[in-house]
Amino acid sequence: MSLKEKILQLVQLPGWEFEQDAAVTGLNDNEASDEEKGLVGSTLGIWGADKVIEIQKKYIENHPHHIPLLFMLDVIHGHKTVMPCPLGQGASFDPELARRGAEVQAREAAAEGVHVTFSPMGDLVRDARWGRVVESTGEDPYLNGKMVAAMVKGYQGDDLKDNDHVASCVKHFAAYGAVVAGRDYNNVELSEHTLRDQYLPAYAEGIKAGARLVMTSFNTLNGIPSSGNKWLMRDVLRGEMDFDGVLISDWAAIAEMENWGFAENLKEAADLAMKAGVDIDMCTEAYGRNLESLVNEGRIKMELLDEAVLRVLTLKNDLGLFEDPYRGASVLRAKEECLSAKNREVARDAVRKSLVLLKNEYNALPLVEKKIAFIGPYAEEKELHSSWAISCDANDTVTIKKAAKEFYDGSDTRIKTARGCLSASDGDETMRGTYSLSDEKKQNKKLFEKAMEVAEWADEIVFCLGENIGQSGESTSKTDIRLPKPQMNLFKKICKEYRNEKTIVTLIFTGRPLDLEKIPEKSDALMICFRPGTEGGHGIIDVLSGNYSPSGKLSMSFPYSVAQAPISYNSFSTGRPKPANGGSAFTTRYLDCPNEARYPFGYGLTYSNFKMSEINISKAAMYKEDETDSIKASVTIRNIGFHEATETVQLYIRDLAGSRVRPVKELKGFEKVTLLPGESREVSFEIKEDMLRFWTIENKFDSETGKFKAFIGFDSTTENGSIFELK
Ligand code: BGC
Repeated sequence: MSLKEKILQLVQLPGWEFEQDAAVTGLNDNEASDEEKGLVGSTLGIWGADKVIEIQKKYIENHPHHIPLLFMLDVIHGHKTVMPCPLGQGASFDPELARRGAEVQAREAAAEGVHVTFSPMGDLVRDARWGRVVESTGEDPYLNGKMVAAMVKGYQGDDLKDNDHVASCVKHFAAYGAVVAGRDYNNVELSEHTLRDQYLPAYAEGIKAGARLVMTSFNTLNGIPSSGNKWLMRDVLRGEMDFDGVLISDWAAIAEMENWGFAENLKEAADLAMKAGVDIDMCTEAYGRNLESLVNEGRIKMELLDEAVLRVLTLKNDLGLFEDPYRGASVLRAKEECLSAKNREVARDAVRKSLVLLKNEYNALPLVEKKIAFIGPYAEEKELHSSWAISCDANDTVTIKKAAKEFYDGSDTRIKTARGCLSASDGDETMRGTYSLSDEKKQNKKLFEKAMEVAEWADEIVFCLGENIGQSGESTSKTDIRLPKPQMNLFKKICKEYRNEKTIVTLIFTGRPLDLEKIPEKSDALMICFRPGTEGGHGIIDVLSGNYSPSGKLSMSFPYSVAQAPISYNSFSTGRPKPANGGSAFTTRYLDCPNEARYPFGYGLTYSNFKMSEINISKAAMYKEDETDSIKASVTIRNIGFHEATETVQLYIRDLAGSRVRPVKELKGFEKVTLLPGESREVSFEIKEDMLRFWTIENKFDSETGKFKAFIGFDSTTENGSIFELK
């Protein structure tokens, strides 16, 4: 291959460069030259079997070595059949479910010609201001690791040559979730031990599961932009984590090193990124226009370039593209695969299992068969996916209205819906320009009047409130995480009128934890639905109707106030812990807000009640040097309610004293248990030495002898603990 041919394997062009005049020979006014378009190694954002086949065919015919083009796409939580957003999937505490969801996504995308998905996102998140928390499975390194690994396996299967799978790209390496003040694209300041103990494990699990690509992040890490961070990419990612796949930059992240003030110009940015080991430059001119001179000037060695090119070609080969550059994509196959009943069933099951019930007083749920009003912008809304389901069609979504009518026999005598208000107000960027202020008032007035009629008619009111599709996702940081004003007004007015006579159930559709203000107090039942995707309506009605008991647990804390951010359960005690019976002066506390989350990590109710025995520890000590040694921690749980239901039993461990201070609790295991009323079961976890390791003062992962406390409970606030020792 010529130098130019090699370099262009490392360049990714956006899909629109190929789409206009159908590639290669086409002249259009985009930035890449025809020569470049004929040689670039990959593209992103194109799907559709006929389109991909047409572009690929022409490309290969014209390529001097007939090397196929690689097609990548953000299939984050669904291609056509959309699963709940990753934050919702995290709440399922069910990695197997995430694996099955990823399998569906892979099959649908692959049938439409996609080879690589930019998923999963392994970024740990603790700050609800950051809009991209919707793409994460939450605040816990252990749970995230399980979910990320499961998704990688679902996307990739056992053999990448199998056309039902796609290659998976773990992103955004590293620590993008810790952007300062929750503002997107910002800097990240993290100590090495926090980085290693909290932020890196989920990516590492994805790599261990075999992810073939990793994406760099937009942020700096302690002053260095990821795409130019040699230590992070070469030493940590490739060296310690043993990653030998393709490292791709995030969109324009190489060029952005100039904006950061880290590279003087694009050429220097290209030099830094190559040296850091970034193989593909996503959508900038940095590599395409500068690597040749960098090689000719001897600044970049040919071996370095060859290594990167080989990694890209190896991926193409492993995907089977040299044998079948279309990987069996066809319009017919896509038609059969996309939105098939089988795929929809996986999505529906995922919805049922991701819903988190936060309150259920007087058994407000399940709904009894009376007259039910669904009120709020999401009662009839089709856009129940997140802004990161770019290839789906909202018309395929089952709305709450549709599912409710289906379930309750389609009769207006039982079900009525009303939007009640606009999803946000005009001052919100996601609505700006849609209505003028006076229009908005008129609209809201009309919608409100209808809602009041419907509320008056009903016995049970189910509010469908939340954030709209544009309010979470990339570049959607917020300093106010309360519900949009028109919705709060609607809620308050209707509650004022009917709170005492009718059952009030509130469903919250959201891509991030919210400050729920007075909603919990004023609702008899409250359930978080996240962004539930294509089968949202069905899955939610399955649970509201009582056909399924909810079983989700929050994987990211819901705070009282945005001002608590960043917040997570696995914090430190401090030298002045606040006593359990309330704070006194000179202990760690806020004057005006609890320290803890309003709804903590791991929290979620079912329709039944479970009782847990005290924790039992099989022995008081185990020996560090004996690899076979372990301690069994167990409890017995009993379903003492009246419904079959699933509880998630969670194991937490606290290291009571370490060479660095240790979190008050860390999740180390969980098990979902389904029990009939009256049934009981023992649940046990094996505690082994490797579960006690952390980044010690010696700067290595190790366990330290001493005392630990194991806790087993139904959420992260459990005090059901027992002490053991590592000797
Ligand atoms: C996002 C990535 C995404 C990429 C390609 C970027 O803006 O940060 O997560 O994979 O675009 O669409």
